[in-house]
Amino acid sequence: MDHKEREQLDVNGIDSVEMMDDMTFVLFGASGDLAKRKIYPALYNLYIEGKTPEKLSVVGLGRKPYTKEVFHDIIKESLETFSRRKADPDKLEAFLDQFRYFIFDAMEAQSYQDLKAFIEEREAEIGIPDNRLFYLSVAPTLVEPITESMNENGITNTEGWKRLIVEKPFGSDLASAQHLNERLTQVFNEDEIFRIDHYLGKPMVQNLESLIRPNPILKSIWNHELISNVQITASETVGVGTRAGYYDKSGAIRDMVQNHLLQLVMMTALHHPEKLSAKEIEERKTAIMQSIRPVTDNIEQHVVRGQYEAGKLDGEALPGYMEEDGVAEDSNNDTYFAARLYLDNEYWKDIPFYIRTGKRLSKKSTQIVIEFKNEADEAEVQQGVVSNLLVIEINPNESISLRVNMKDDSNEHFEPAYVTFSKNLDDQPEAYENLLNDAMGGLSTYFAHWSEVELSWKWIQPILEAFEADQLPLHGYKAGSQGPAAADDLLKEDGFNWW
Ligand code: BG6
Repeated sequence: MDHKEREQLDVNGIDSVEMMDDMTFVLFGASGDLAKRKIYPALYNLYIEGKTPEKLSVVGLGRKPYTKEVFHDIIKESLETFSRRKADPDKLEAFLDQFRYFIFDAMEAQSYQDLKAFIEEREAEIGIPDNRLFYLSVAPTLVEPITESMNENGITNTEGWKRLIVEKPFGSDLASAQHLNERLTQVFNEDEIFRIDHYLGKPMVQNLESLIRPNPILKSIWNHELISNVQITASETVGVGTRAGYYDKSGAIRDMVQNHLLQLVMMTALHHPEKLSAKEIEERKTAIMQSIRPVTDNIEQHVVRGQYEAGKLDGEALPGYMEEDGVAEDSNNDTYFAARLYLDNEYWKDIPFYIRTGKRLSKKSTQIVIEFKNEADEAEVQQGVVSNLLVIEINPNESISLRVNMKDDSNEHFEPAYVTFSKNLDDQPEAYENLLNDAMGGLSTYFAHWSEVELSWKWIQPILEAFEADQLPLHGYKAGSQGPAAADDLLKEDGFNWW
């Protein structure tokens, strides 16, 4: 299916991949961590469900001199360790038979010539057209040279379709993201570029777009006149671990906010009573991102940054960020970020969105809380009436809860009670399965489009600059805590608190 046909399907509101062309999946970084943890298990589970093409050639590239057999062993091990379904011995051989390994040096021109011949040979061998999906699971510095060299060597010059999947980070600030995009779009069109944001692959996040429509109950309460504020949290218990080389330069702001958190804002604010086509979703998300009020002056009044200090979690003593391996001695990197955002559009006007994320917090949780106005009178508030909440839990559970007020046993006071609707998690596809399935089918709804990425960087840029010029205090918070007190103050000023 070419892009025109795909677009037509998108316009008609098709939101799942129904046809899959035969193709070559070229995986750069085939011996890397991401391939083992996510990509092979995702491909396997899609294969078992009959969601991969009838004829698929997977070419794994890496510098290590593996044979095909060693490569297959690596994939088998990855399935044993990370796949949600254990490998079925009857199906495994046929699955593995799709995979070939190619020793590759990204900086060597000859490598590209040989790769082209290798891909073509496999295409001829199994009789498939030159539809090619290139997955760059490599260091960010290699994305541009690999794309350019593939182009120079004719690998991307196909009669069939071509697509590029790129992992985050997409640039490290506005200018570098614009530069990267400018280079990539010399080889691929925007609709051929699939920028992965794995939060968009999470089933509950994908649910957000259609949550309201089939549920009149939710439709009636999801009303901006009733909503007082929205809180989006992505908290983690893990610290920087072994990733200081990357994280110490990126911080929570680039690692989580510019991409995942702002995507959650867009997906939450997207809410629409009618079915949207892929194109409309993209346009609405862009318009939402455009509507976020820039934070350029008095940044410290809207943004809180923090860094974890030594503390305790579940009785275990944990080091502070500055004691972690690989962190620069004079690092003032942020491991925590919170902000207040306003969307200057008709629907969300004057309703604050609070976002926060951090490492080494008390629990792992990704959730969106819609808080409703508390219309109780003074006497009822005295009796314990609190505001209603709609809680959308994305991780570790997937559920929707409603907080309501119920009389307690004395019949004189109210206590909050939760009504929870949760999904059976046993058989849920992983984010990467959803995303790979979409990219292989050419559906880009749940990928970060350039307009969204660029606008996110534009919103982040002044904050980044204030961080870099050290204009904002870096608040310490104890490992295992709820984050810096300053983040609580951000809401207190408006009469709210984090849920
Ligand atoms: C990644 C970040 O994109 O997301 C990590 O680089 C972070 O630092 C991770 O830990 C969190 O993802 P999840 O799915 O566990 O919430």
